Amino acid sequence: MKKWGILLVAMMMVTMVLAACGQEKNGSGNQANDKTTSQAGSQNKADESGNKTEGGKKLIVGMSADFPPYEFHIKDANGEDQIVGFDVEIAKEIAKDLGAELEVKDMQFDSLLNELASSRVDLVISGLSPKPERKKQIDMSKIYYKAEQAIVTRSEDKAKYATMDSLKGAKIGVQKSSIQEDMAKQVPEAKLTSLAKINDIIMQLKSGRVDVAIIEGPVAKSFVKNVEGIDITDAKPVTEDEGYVIGVKKGNQEMLDQVNKTLDRLISSGSIDKFVADASALAEK
Ligand code: ARG
Repeated sequence: MKKWGILLVAMMMVTMVLAACGQEKNGSGNQANDKTTSQAGSQNKADESGNKTEGGKKLIVGMSADFPPYEFHIKDANGEDQIVGFDVEIAKEIAKDLGAELEVKDMQFDSLLNELASSRVDLVISGLSPKPERKKQIDMSKIYYKAEQAIVTRSEDKAKYATMDSLKGAKIGVQKSSIQEDMAKQVPEAKLTSLAKINDIIMQLKSGRVDVAIIEGPVAKSFVKNVEGIDITDAKPVTEDEGYVIGVKKGNQEMLDQVNKTLDRLISSGSIDKFVADASALAEK
């Protein structure tokens, strides 16, 4: 089922209009587009630190919801927009353990760490890789999941970009401020296009403005399943920044301990693997 095709075409048209208005790069996920959803299912225990609401405690989690099966938008049974994915399930569990109400904020990936550092969100759960440089700005939980990287291209070019060496001089699309951007910078003579949202990278790929995109494996698979005419090549990108962590505000040891405790519980009970399987199935629907 290629239902995202229509969405992509629609978004492509919007992009073209923006371009005609003389705007430079499009950033579909600016602050104005940020979306907030509250998730129920919390028992409001009182009196722990955190953002307070009238009813009790609130846990605000920032994520860039362009990243199936980690975090992405769906329409629920009532046609309402909802952010779902396995990072969202993890966020729910942390909120539950804190006795807080969860609020998910959809933001641009490249703004997440600043939002955390300036306390506008309490946590970042967004397929965040433990890049050492980020540790200057935020604290990080233990690794809760690992995945490989992938090279995505138009189906007809699949054989052309079958090795990392073949990317030399290619036009590479990546998410702004991601480790994929770092990886693309390592490719000799590559021409980078760094965009705020992954949807935009896929559009650029489809329209031929970039040759390949470097994307996390599970996310690449999800897009390939839902978007016509793109494929994962045999090239194997590698990174030292393996695995995913949760970002916590620097110095908030109490929160860090709590997050790690919840992760321990989810990892040892096999819940994370179940969340991944469920979210992957949901992303395919
Ligand atoms: N793992 C990569 C990084 O940390 C990319 C994460 C992108 N996440 C997202 N929700 N778009 O740099």
